[in-house]
Amino acid sequence: MTVIAATERLVLRNWLESDRDLFHEINSDPEVMEFFAHRRTRAESDEVFDRIRDAIATTGIGFYAVALRDLDEPIGFCGLWVPELEPFLPKDTVEIGWRLAKRHWGKGYVTEAAKAALTHGFINHDLPEIVSFAVTDNHRSIAVMQRIGMRHDSARDFDHPSVPDSHPHLKRHVLYAVSRDDRSIEPR
Ligand SMILES: CC(C)(COP(=O)(O)OP(=O)(O)OC[C@H]1O[C@@H](n2cnc3c(N)ncnc32)[C@H](O)[C@@H]1OP(=O)(O)O)[C@@H](O)C(=O)NCCC(=O)NCCS
Repeated sequence: MTVIAATERLVLRNWLESDRDLFHEINSDPEVMEFFAHRRTRAESDEVFDRIRDAIATTGIGFYAVALRDLDEPIGFCGLWVPELEPFLPKDTVEIGWRLAKRHWGKGYVTEAAKAALTHGFINHDLPEIVSFAVTDNHRSIAVMQRIGMRHDSARDFDHPSVPDSHPHLKRHVLYAVSRDDRSIEPR
C-alpha cells in the first residue's frame, strides 16, 4: 500500500478495497454533496474510485484516502488532481481538493491533511503552484484554503464548465492558489 504522508492524527495513503463503502458514502450524502450537481450511484462511485486509485499508483498524484492514524479508519479524501479544465486553467494545473464524511467535520482533519498534501506536491512532485477552487458559497471549503495559506486570485475565478445550466447557483467558482516559493506555507 502506498503511504503518501503521516501527520499527528492521520495517514494519507492510496485506497484499499475496504474503503469503497466510505468512498460511496461521501459521494452520495446530500449534505456532503451540497455544492455538486450530482450524487453518485454505487457504480459511478466505484468507477471513480478505480480511476483515482490507478492515478495514485502510477503517478503519485490523486485524491488520497485520509484515514485516522490509530485505527486506519478511512474518513474521506484530500489530495492532488489534474483537473483538465482548459481553457479556464492551463494544461498542467494541479489542484488540491477534499471531501470528508459529515461525522468527521469540525475537527481540523482536512486542514491537517491538506498541509501534508501541499508539502507532498511541492517537495516530491516539484510543483510550482497548486490551486483550489470551490463554489462561491462553499464557505467551509474556502476556509480550509485560507487556513492552509492559499490566496484568492479573483482574476482567475471562473464559471465551471461541467456544471449544468439546471444548477446556475453552482456555476461560479472562486480560485485560490499558493506557489512553492510562497513563504507563508507552513510545512505541516
Ligand atoms: C470542506 C470540508 C472538507 C471542510 O471540513 P472541516 O471539518 O470544516 O475543515 P477542517 O478539517 O479544516 O476543520 C475546521 C473546523 O474544525 C475545528 N477544529 C476542531 N479541532 C481542530 C484542530 N485540532 N485543528 C484545527 N481545527 C479544529 C475548527 O474550529 C473548524 O471548525 P468551524 O468550521 O466550526 O470553525 C467539509 O466541509 C466537506 O467535506 N465538505 C463537502 C465536500 C466539499 O464541499 N468539498 C470541497 C469542494 S471544493
